[in-house]
Amino acid sequence: MDLLRSLPDTTLLTELDALEPFRHDESHLVGHVPLGVVRPRSAAALRELVRLAKAEGFGLVPRGAGTGKAGGCVPTARTVVVDFSAWPGDLNVSSQDLALTAPASALLRDVKAAAIAEGLFYPPDPNSWESCALGGTLATNAGGPNACKYGMTRHWVLSVDALLEDGGIHTFGISSVKSNAGPALGQLLIGSEGIFGLIVGATLRLTPLPREYATLLLPVARWEDLLDLPGRLCGAGYLPSAFEFFDPAVLAELRAHGPEEARRLPGEALAILEFDERGCTSEPFLEGLLDLLGPVADGLEIASDERQRKGIWAVRRMTSAFLKERHPKKVSEDIVVPRSRLREFFAGLDRLGFPSVSYGHLGDGNLHVNLLAAGETDPALLERQLMDLFRLATSLGGTLSGEHGIGLAKRDAFLALSDPAHIQTLRALKRAMDPAGIFNPGKVI
Ligand code: MLT
Ligand code: ZN
Repeated sequence: MDLLRSLPDTTLLTELDALEPFRHDESHLVGHVPLGVVRPRSAAALRELVRLAKAEGFGLVPRGAGTGKAGGCVPTARTVVVDFSAWPGDLNVSSQDLALTAPASALLRDVKAAAIAEGLFYPPDPNSWESCALGGTLATNAGGPNACKYGMTRHWVLSVDALLEDGGIHTFGISSVKSNAGPALGQLLIGSEGIFGLIVGATLRLTPLPREYATLLLPVARWEDLLDLPGRLCGAGYLPSAFEFFDPAVLAELRAHGPEEARRLPGEALAILEFDERGCTSEPFLEGLLDLLGPVADGLEIASDERQRKGIWAVRRMTSAFLKERHPKKVSEDIVVPRSRLREFFAGLDRLGFPSVSYGHLGDGNLHVNLLAAGETDPALLERQLMDLFRLATSLGGTLSGEHGIGLAKRDAFLALSDPAHIQTLRALKRAMDPAGIFNPGKVI
């Protein structure tokens, strides 16, 4: 598209070969070939881009590092991909304000490292944390294991800078946890997957860095014994910073075909629990925990040093890629139910009767239910299976996505299963904030 050549401070890609990688993220979806990929470097570039999009009737699809799991950055028809990887800006930590300012282009690993360098902690830790861009984590409200204690990305955002439909960049929020001058519009942008405006930067909330970790491997002989534990622990005042699990099938596959560390994993099923509060490695804390766990803790192992802790997490972190490599056409979902209803969820999943394996964030009820045979399943049947899965989660007070978002992948299911008033409200907001429909068209709603 020749008009894009007039954009100031912008790198433009138009060659077919160069556009091809931008049709994908880490979901199974393949999008349209975009009209072009732009890498803007100034507010003037974005202003002109918005003007052109409105005048020429094309859409703008924001993209960070392309590590999303729901197709949020996969191009729909007649769109230009806005790749924020060259967006300028520095990382600045204010230890007095417990705040960190960063551009959308910053990698999450650099954001986390900048906080750590000041003895501070930015908790969001999606599985892609070493390669994803901050902007993508804000647009998708990314989660991760630490959400069990610390919540999602949105809980760590003080203010957001976003490109709106007037072509300007506007800031929502201030550098303080206390800010109550009207509804929090910035929160509307977090997790909106770019349908209301495009996030170019943010000020994030930090907290003191934990100084102590107790990382526990909890193997069990009967995997159902894990299901009440998240609720029981929380009910008794033990809130893990992470509580992950592998069901027997995932564990068996990891043990048989995974890396060296995975081959030594114990149990029929396995949970990884981590605590990070002061005193969590002390005897009274661990004894209290053992008392609470009772006989289920018989095989409990405690990571003895940082090397062992890292080894355990390395296995957990590679599980998604490992399963994908072995089952390239699998479908991985990320439903969520309240932690108190995990047992009912798995009983319901059993009743549904289709083959699936599960692992993930048991502690906060966010489960990666994987349909490994999706590639060999009739597409109409697969769709029914997925809808049944989503309905089950919804019927238990949960929802169809705990952390990956809706994007393109879950749009139809989201529209079918949501309260119509919810969708109407979102669409009214979309019309108000994006009357020309230029921002990430065809996504979410
Ligand atoms: C994970 O927690 O491993 C990812 O969010 C799951 C996935 O890749 O499906
Ligand atoms: Zn996950």
